[in-house]
Amino acid sequence: MKQKTFLSLAVAAVFGVAAAGAFAQQNNGDWWGHGRMSSGQMGSDHMQSWGWGHMGPGQQMRMQRHWTYMNEGVPTAYRGARSTVRATPQVIADGKALYTNNCASCHGARGLGDGEAGRSLVPSPALLQRFVQMPMAGDEYLLWAIFEGGERFGTDMPAFEGELNEEEVWKTIAYMRAGFP
Ligand code: HEC
Repeated sequence: MKQKTFLSLAVAAVFGVAAAGAFAQQNNGDWWGHGRMSSGQMGSDHMQSWGWGHMGPGQQMRMQRHWTYMNEGVPTAYRGARSTVRATPQVIADGKALYTNNCASCHGARGLGDGEAGRSLVPSPALLQRFVQMPMAGDEYLLWAIFEGGERFGTDMPAFEGELNEEEVWKTIAYMRAGFP
């Protein structure tokens, strides 16, 4: 468990450095390299898995959180935050209930970003099923995103601090990481 956490942190660190380097080289909106893709590729599963299926202002707003993280990390309050739950069947079941009640309306029952309430939002709700498997989506990042929401970035992602306690957020995350069973 410990070792796994360390590993994912190490991966996140490497990923962060590489991405920051790439960003420095091509600081002109070419973020994940989709600038070189044809329009046929834009709608591909791969693009959507990064949540970049739709271009336009929404995309830039979505990018803000990632960009901020790459450059500044999470705010100090979240730095070093670690999940306190293990992904037992009970925790995953609790997480499923929490996710269903609080998140599915926008992010979709299986985290595909296709919830009814999210249809008209710009940017659209993140494709969490894929996002939570990315190196960037470590504990501190997810806690920050879920507790503070998107106000700072002008998005409709609600702030759940005060709505959910930390343990409930960890359970929700455990459920999402387990692949939305
Ligand atoms: C009212 C609709 C809505 C609800 C409800 C909602 N979200 Fe979101 N969420 C969004 C939108 C829109 C975005 C994309 C913009 C952004 O990143 O702020 C988003 C983004 C996110 C991100 C950031 C993804 C990234 O790329 O960094 C995470 C993590 C997330 N949501 C988790 C959750 C969880 C967990 C819940 C339930 C506890 C939840 N959301 C509930 C609308 C919603």
